[in-house]
Amino acid sequence: MSPSSLLGAMGVDTPTATPGFENLVGDAEVFFSEHFNKKPLLRRGVLEGSVRNLVSLRQLDDVVAMEAVSPSYLRIAKDGRGVPSRAYTRTVTDHGAALAEAVVPEQVYELFRSGGTITWNALNHFLPSARHLVQVFTRMFDSPSEVVAFLTPAGKDGYAPHHDPVDVYVIQIEGTKNWRIWEPMAERGADKATYRSEDLGAPVIETILRPGDVLYLPYGTPHAAAAKAEVSLHLSVTVEPRHWRDVVAETVRHLLQEAEFDGLPHLGSVAASDGAGAHGSAAAFGGMLRLLADRLEEVDPIAETTRLAAAGRVRGGAGRSREFERLASVDVLAPEALLRRSAVPLEIGPSDGMKSGLLVNGHRLAVPDAVANTLRDLENGNAVAAARFFPGVPEARSLHAAQRLARLGVLEIADHMRS
Ligand SMILES: [Fe+2]
Repeated sequence: MSPSSLLGAMGVDTPTATPGFENLVGDAEVFFSEHFNKKPLLRRGVLEGSVRNLVSLRQLDDVVAMEAVSPSYLRIAKDGRGVPSRAYTRTVTDHGAALAEAVVPEQVYELFRSGGTITWNALNHFLPSARHLVQVFTRMFDSPSEVVAFLTPAGKDGYAPHHDPVDVYVIQIEGTKNWRIWEPMAERGADKATYRSEDLGAPVIETILRPGDVLYLPYGTPHAAAAKAEVSLHLSVTVEPRHWRDVVAETVRHLLQEAEFDGLPHLGSVAASDGAGAHGSAAAFGGMLRLLADRLEEVDPIAETTRLAAAGRVRGGAGRSREFERLASVDVLAPEALLRRSAVPLEIGPSDGMKSGLLVNGHRLAVPDAVANTLRDLENGNAVAAARFFPGVPEARSLHAAQRLARLGVLEIADHMRS
């Protein structure tokens, strides 16, 4: 399946304010064949007019004023060095007991006024628009992603030339920033590293980013950025590259959870040889390797790829739930509302002649056989109106039964399936 058809198949669901992947990088097939993991991509003005929906200076003012946003999300660099957090934090106390560290807005502003660059790591942990943006990337790459905001005062260098160990998608929000980008090193480093400009030679790209511009840098691409005549705000969406060695290692780690690998060898016994020529723990180790090879042979590649993809999406900072909204909509369920089975696993037990047992999310309950039959029917992807969920009873009773199962997550309202 091509990346662009993947987008549709994944049913990417984001508010209209959130750009889709192709809004950022253009045609996904072209992006993956020509740029992804190969060379930088610069797209001019693609988010012009809508880019402040992602984040605005006003929102960052609000974030600085929020005591609950931990100072550990904030970093300030000045004159090329990190400013210790004690320069802009205070301890919040409750009846004399230390409760938490909080940012002191005026000290942050003073550091910014005197030339400090301010960085919010993982903006997606507390700003909903950034969380929506991250979701576009985690769904596309099945890999952890974060949104980092960089706010640089006019005329200041942000960071010295360096490369990052992650793919970076830069979105310029406010002001302008001068970027210099060099060819990735022949040996692409997996760790962050800094460079001296004179060692890098002439940049391959030297450009000024303006609000709405998007720049993609494959991991390991050396770059440096400096604000021009105005304050500059840009977002960097980072995506961790998952190499074959990473995903294969995850599969092996998963298989090694089995009890048959629980044994505790004494590796030192490798030197002890018995009469038959076998070498203690070395022979046992060989047995373990053969066992692992057998288990690897049994892995279903399709099921395992699905598991690995799902595992890549569930790291902190990307999830988003609508449980309060969902429960509120169940409370006002209309008789004509169409209901479907959700993805929540459900076991339907045998009937005792009147009722059948259900097991869902650790809850056991008994429902009339007519309800169990409706649930079996819905397993095929069908939908049923709430008023007819429990056939043969008055509408109000059917509605009540549907609400009970919807609250447990067994049913979802068809119209709300992707909200
Ligand atoms: Fe960087």
